Amino acid sequence: MTRTTVRKTKAAGRCEACGAETPKWVGRCPECGEWGSVLEVEVAPKASGAGGLRSGTTELARPVSIGDVDPLGAAKRSTGIDELDRVLGGGLVVGSVTLLGGEPGMGKSTLTLQALGAMARGGARVLLVSAEESAEQVRLRAERLGALDPRLQVVAECSLPYVLALADELRPDVLVIDSIQTVYDPDAAGVPGSMSQVRDCAQALVRSAKERGVATILVGHVTKEGTLAGPRVLEHVVDTVLQFEGDRHHALRMLRALKHRFGPTDELGLFEMTGTGLAEVRDASAMLLTDRCAGNPGSVVAPVLDGSRPLLVEVQALVAATVFAMPRRSAQAFDNARLAMLTAVLQSRASIDLSQHDVYSSVAGGVRIDETGVDLAVALASVSALCDTAFPSDAVALGEVGLGGELRSVAQAQRRLAEAARLGFRHAIVPMSTPDVDGINLVRFSTVAAAIAAIFPDSARSKGSSDARAQVRHRPDDNHEGRR
Ligand code: TYD
Ligand code: MG
Repeated sequence: MTRTTVRKTKAAGRCEACGAETPKWVGRCPECGEWGSVLEVEVAPKASGAGGLRSGTTELARPVSIGDVDPLGAAKRSTGIDELDRVLGGGLVVGSVTLLGGEPGMGKSTLTLQALGAMARGGARVLLVSAEESAEQVRLRAERLGALDPRLQVVAECSLPYVLALADELRPDVLVIDSIQTVYDPDAAGVPGSMSQVRDCAQALVRSAKERGVATILVGHVTKEGTLAGPRVLEHVVDTVLQFEGDRHHALRMLRALKHRFGPTDELGLFEMTGTGLAEVRDASAMLLTDRCAGNPGSVVAPVLDGSRPLLVEVQALVAATVFAMPRRSAQAFDNARLAMLTAVLQSRASIDLSQHDVYSSVAGGVRIDETGVDLAVALASVSALCDTAFPSDAVALGEVGLGGELRSVAQAQRRLAEAARLGFRHAIVPMSTPDVDGINLVRFSTVAAAIAAIFPDSARSKGSSDARAQVRHRPDDNHEGRR
């Protein structure tokens, strides 16, 4: 018996701006909201699963026992830069595609050029497609970075078919496209840099990387909002998404994996931008505390965790009499709402009257803090600034502050405190439940009020807070707290 399949095509829509597909043509793209950007396209119906199996069984992979699958991760190539290898979990996997995102000027081109130079010196054949800078500019930079090596090939072109042909001809071990927003496929829809172009070029490069076993890095710009400029599908088609970030006014640069198919995503790579390129930062805590004015009121050191890397940061606070009807709470480097919450907790639970004061808080060194372990340090720095009394310079503070003013333990307290001990800190103000750590003396408290009463005994009196009840309320606790 023969079966005839009738393959009908049907009309659908595809947005030129963002690449979204719609079941039928519409005047406005439901994804990006652009008017008149959806074009009608013909789509062939997909073959059914059963039909596919019958027609091409030999083409399709057969299930195998999981232990017999060749592990991709085994073939990792070191990038020659330890901090980059750390984030990649050892190096670039053969045939994998890595998207390196970051704001303009962060150092993406510098990092990739340094890595290419190091890999070329190690004997790898590497190709840099510089679609933004001329070959002469790249050479000048490579000289400065010490990345001149005959095995490093550079081409300043942006035509995608040409790049694919070059990859075929040269068979490099590592290919870098700088940037994915500037390569252009004349056969694909959209203008250069449009979302559909970026998506189609990325997909073609991913296919090419897999077929030829070339470890590929796509450099990508991020928008002001901090997302990668390009369709979301870009993040889905690549194996690894790295984010390069930092504060423009500081030299510190942080590299993180937002997605990684070959390892964990909680590693943090640290670099410092110098006159001769990116230098690896091995002792970040020491670097971040270099310019600390120990003994200044309003300064408290906190051991935070970025990914899985413990870092010591200096939290600073400034408290000034307000001239506004609504006192200001302004946090740099962490959430503004968190600072407002902490000042409210100080007010309600610890009788620290900040209703007539503006509170500014920041973290020195350009690090952004995304966790609550820094709460206690922010609270103590604010009180220290308010009563103009320095926090002990050989102590750190660690803990989350709850809405009831209670101190809560934070993840991996022991690793953080061990880092503080390594840097020579001798005492730590911590929540009750914190386990002992060698080399550092833990001073435990159950509430932020109790910690403040012990460290800044004059705080309530000196600023005229009249709430004596709070002092009384916390007295029973005090008997058990502050023990060493
Ligand atoms: P770049 O790698 O071009 O950034 P991106 O590719 O992410 O846009 O780096 C740009 C900045 O780095 C630029 O402002 C100059 C600075 N820089 C140095 O300070 N030292 C150096 O050795 C290099 C190469 C760049
Ligand atoms: Mg660049």
